[in-house]
Amino acid sequence: MAGTGEKVSIQDRLAGRVAYVLGGGSHGPARPGESLPMGNGRAIALRLAAEGATVVVGDIDLGRARATVDALAVPGLAVEVDAADAESCAAAVAAALGAYQRLDVVVCNVGVSGREPIKAQSVPEWERSETVNVRSHWLTAQAALQPMLDRSRGSFVFVGSTAGLLSSRRSLSYEATKAAQLAVMRHIAVRYAARGIRSNAVVLGNIDSALVRREFGEDLTSARAAVVPMGREGRPEEAAAAVAFLASDDAGYVTGQSLIVDGGVSAAWPTPPSALQRG
Ligand SMILES: NC(=O)c1ccc[n+]([C@@H]2O[C@H](COP(=O)([O-])OP(=O)(O)OC[C@H]3O[C@@H](n4cnc5c(N)ncnc54)[C@H](O)[C@@H]3O)[C@@H](O)[C@H]2O)c1
Repeated sequence: MAGTGEKVSIQDRLAGRVAYVLGGGSHGPARPGESLPMGNGRAIALRLAAEGATVVVGDIDLGRARATVDALAVPGLAVEVDAADAESCAAAVAAALGAYQRLDVVVCNVGVSGREPIKAQSVPEWERSETVNVRSHWLTAQAALQPMLDRSRGSFVFVGSTAGLLSSRRSLSYEATKAAQLAVMRHIAVRYAARGIRSNAVVLGNIDSALVRREFGEDLTSARAAVVPMGREGRPEEAAAAVAFLASDDAGYVTGQSLIVDGGVSAAWPTPPSALQRG
């Protein structure tokens, strides 16, 4: 702690905390040379545990959640949850509270990416996106909130996308729901700021997750790297490091914020290379 002379290493930053990660499995091919597929949710769970937290991992596929828990630095709990089902969202939070009696950190990571621009946008696909990307997040937060308020302590982190700030012209439902997700994040932040609750988001650019590898394939993932000022996709571990910061007391005076983790995409003004001087 600053000023006390007590040394706190980053490995201990979340010691004694209990965290729940919604969408903490991973579904898709692993990176070359690795056996465990890595997505944002799994990387977040691993990072929180590496910093000392006890982690509950929720996923629609219990096997994927268990694979994450098996890889944690400390024992955790895998729970089956369907983010598209309202009762299931609340039941998963109840299972976490039942197992550990409290939640200090809730990370709402689950998200589905649509593919339909406005002329193709269908109602079922819109409703699926809204249900998974927004409704499951506020329902999960709602279920976790009162026990946090009872202890005057709690931190929510929502895993957002630059699509919630900028349009890629790709999917109307994804852009709209990722924008709405940030509104949920801010609502919680402002409403409960004076009662010990913080709520923030990481806003991610192009991240090399197993899901992206599965949905887009290798060709598109390298094209996704080329449009980033840094010249590469981000790693799920880099997303997880930002989440861990926001979840921790290091972000003790940070609430209602969107931390952009995008390799410079949202800072760029598209300019033709021919208009640039060399060097
Ligand atoms: N990968 C990117 O480039 C990128 C960019 C911006 C934002 N994001 C956001 O990051 C988050 C995670 O994306 P990711 O690509 O890392 O995937 P991920 O690997 O973290 O998450 C996928 C997991 O969610 C689970 N899941 C899917 N539907 C579910 C449901 N209905 N209920 C419960 N679990 C369910 C899957 O089984 C899988 O294990 C999403 O919110 C996404 O919008 C990703």
